[in-house]
This record gives sequence, C-alpha cells and structure tokens, in this order.
Amino acid sequence: MSNVVVVGAQWGDEGKGKIVDWLSLRADVVVRFQGGHNAGHTLVIGNNVYKLSLLPSGIVRPGKMSVIGNGVVVDPWALIAEIEKLRGQGVAISPANLKVADNAVLILPLHRDLDGLREDAANGVKIGTTRRGIGPAYEDKIGRRAIRVCDLADRAMLERKLDGLLSHHNALRRGFGAPEADRAALLAEIEAIAPQILEYAAPVWLELDEARRTGRRILFEGAQGSLLDVDHGTYPYVTSSNTMAGSAAAGSGLGPGSLGYILGIVKAYTTRVGEGPFPTELVDGVGQWLGEKGREFGVVTGRKRRCGWFDAALVRQSVKLNGIHGIALTKLDVLDGLDELKICTGYELNGKRLDYFPAAMADQAAVTPVYETLEGWKDSTQGARSWVDLPATAVKYVRRVEELIGAPVALLSTSPERDDTILMKDPFED
Ligand code: GDP
Ligand code: IMO
Ligand code: MG
Repeated sequence: MSNVVVVGAQWGDEGKGKIVDWLSLRADVVVRFQGGHNAGHTLVIGNNVYKLSLLPSGIVRPGKMSVIGNGVVVDPWALIAEIEKLRGQGVAISPANLKVADNAVLILPLHRDLDGLREDAANGVKIGTTRRGIGPAYEDKIGRRAIRVCDLADRAMLERKLDGLLSHHNALRRGFGAPEADRAALLAEIEAIAPQILEYAAPVWLELDEARRTGRRILFEGAQGSLLDVDHGTYPYVTSSNTMAGSAAAGSGLGPGSLGYILGIVKAYTTRVGEGPFPTELVDGVGQWLGEKGREFGVVTGRKRRCGWFDAALVRQSVKLNGIHGIALTKLDVLDGLDELKICTGYELNGKRLDYFPAAMADQAAVTPVYETLEGWKDSTQGARSWVDLPATAVKYVRRVEELIGAPVALLSTSPERDDTILMKDPFED
C-alpha cells in the first residue's frame, strides 16, 4: 500500500488540512477528489497560517504535484483568487505543480444565486449551506447540462451549453421571483477567466496513472466528512457529494485498487456547522468552552460551530462505511482541564438500544445518546510530540476511543502546528 486516502470521519473540520500537510512530506502527488470551495482546510506552519478551500494542502510544499480531480466542482473565480492569495503568502503555483481535471464541472455565479434562493425560501428545507453554489453545480452535473473545464476552450460549445443551462436556470429563477440571468454578462465573465483556468487544465487521470506506474506516492485529500456524505450522511442535512473514501477513485480517475491506506481524521470531540441532527451536542457551558478553546469557527463562513461530546457510535459507522484502516486523532489538547469526559457509545430509540445511527430523519432527531464517563486530565497535552509525554488518563481516553470505534490511532495531533504530531504508524508504510 503506497497511497493514502484522507477522509473526515465526522461532520467536517476534523483537521484534515493539518494532517494532509504533515503527510504530504512523504507524498509526491496530492489530489482533491470531491467537494469544492465549501471546504476550509487550515495549515499552521511556524508563523504562517494558510487557509485552503480548493487547492490541495500539498501546494505549500515545494516539489509536490497538486491535482484537482474531476469529482471537484470548480468555481474558476474562487480558484484564481485562492492562487493569488497563496502567491501573496509566498507559495509558488504554476502549471508545473498544479493541474485541474479537464472534465471537472464549473460552478458559475448562477449556482451561487440558486444556493442562496433555496436557503432563503420560506417553504424549503434550510440546510445551512456555505452558499457557494456547491449543491446546484452538482445537480447540473448529474442533470448532464453542466459546463466543464474543457468547454472553456471551445467558444461555440460554450455558448451552446450556456444556452441549455440558462433555459433551465431561468425557469427556476422565475419560480423564485428572481430576475433572469444576464447571458451577455455571464459569457463575458466566463471568457475573461477561461484562459487563466485553461493553463492548468489537463487529463489528470493520465498523470495519476503515470504516477501509479512509476511508484510515486499519491495522497488523496477528502473534503467535508462522512456524516455529510450525500448517501450515508444525515440526509438532507448533507453536502451534495460523496465524501467517502470510495469516491477518491471515481473523483480522480484512478482505479480503486490503487487507493491503499484509508486514514480517517477524527476530532477528539464532535462539531458540526449548519443545520441537522447532532445527538451529543452540548448547548451548555461545556459546549461553549469547547468552542472557545478549540476555536471552533468556520474557515469559509466564519459561523460558530456547534460542539458536543465524542460520538463513538457515529465514528464506528464511518470506520465501516469508509473501510478506515487507522485514524488521525486531532485536538486532544482541547480536552485538557476537563474534570470528566463523556463518550457516546450508542443510542436509545423508543426504549430500544441501537449501536448505529438510523437512516430516517425522524429517528435521527429522536435518538438519545447513551454515555459512558471517563476521568479527565489536568496536565497539558498541548504540543506533545511523543506518546510518553501524555498523561495516563489521556492515554486511557485514546485507548477507549480506539476500542469503541474499532480502528487504531495512526497519528495523534496535539496543536494546530504542523510538527505537533505524534506518529504511531506510518500510513504510507502499511
Ligand atoms: P479541516 O476542514 O478538516 O481541514 O479542518 P479545519 O481547518 O476547518 O478546522 C480544524 C481547526 O483545528 C483548524 O483551525 C486547525 O488549525 C485546528 N487544529 C488541527 N489540529 C489541531 C489540534 O490537534 N489541536 C488544536 N488545538 N487545533 C487543531
Ligand atoms: P471541510 O472540508 C464542515 C456543511 C455546511 C452545510 C452542509 C451543506 O472544511 O471539512 P454545502 O455548501 O456543502 O452545500 O453545505 O455541509 N459543510 C461543511 N461543514 N466542513 C466542511 O468542509 C463543510 N463543507 C460543507 O455547513 O451544513
Ligand atoms: Mg474545514
């Protein structure tokens, strides 16, 4: 197994960016395979903080190839703005180290409009999306009317596709009482950005096949988390892509046999941004405390993240659904100082015990968590770089987490800083 797939095992923001950045030292190619600029991945390297939404987290390391795969929905303006921002922070980005799949779907301003119209509709389901047009862009992809990166190189095709797209969107806009889209303005905007995107466009599946055949190590960077997966998550309070490890293959064009080690990123407690069920949510002082200590504010929207106890039943489900071989446990340090800690081991629903999270919306809202209580620790784990530096009670917590979720800890993260990471088992060497 020489490749590694990183996926979030909860509701996103588990610390994927930090772990992908750390692992990218050992990788040659880093690939995003789903989602879009709804993601916000934070890297802290010395005094520099990088916030990435579309660019793979390997981009900050010189000599690594970054790939945006076909499964990603690409907002061209957001991509160019992010490239400029990173360049301003001293990161070198050129077609030599960044490639964008020529068959990836584009997010246009009309997708963002529709995302907002749906969220604000009085009679719709409010999801609490990032309002970046992610859902509407995936709808158009599945509806076979999307404009793709490769279409930017063909003016006649672009216009034809745009007309098809506009007839669909204008009908929806009229339904919402919104003005129709301005074709000429949109076309002009697209044509202005096209050459900048086309610079990076490539059949990335060929590049990845070449990397595989020549034994280069590929690191897949998932966005969002398993509970936001459009099939397996808390539907309809999910994102519009498959966030599971399995989609690393479909979203990049590399066969599933080459995926290798599946690393789940797991926060030592639970957070969620946006609407939807959250059995272990703490609306009391402890929740507030976790949010402040863990600096739980969204990277993309700045929204306050909801916080709660560790839900082992949910993560156990993620371990099974993704085929997780091992986890990176992050933000253990945020728990420092609590007298006691609770872990949810399963649920109760209508007087019956359940050891998994049910699929029906009403059941998801009705379950009550079953907790076990563990002793907390007063000593600091913050910045610990070796297992022996951890207080015995913290080690006990980690061991219990492993037992309950059915997967071992391969990496342990003890601060936002790149090097405050303890390696238990190298995922590339499995
Ligand atoms: P991602 O979306 O999964 O990449 O995660 P985010 O970057 O959205 O959120 C994770 C936040 O926690 C970021 O601010 C990270 O810098 C921070 N972080 C990551 N690992 C740790 C850790 O072990 N301890 C602490 N205190 N913060 C961490
Ligand atoms: P990273 O990669 C946390 C959530 C939104 C909303 C739902 C749907 O940083 O972990 P969308 O805009 O995707 O249609 O919103 O999904 N969401 C995330 N929550 N982390 C993310 O990404 C998220 N990306 C989307 O808050 O509830
Ligand atoms: Mg995030």
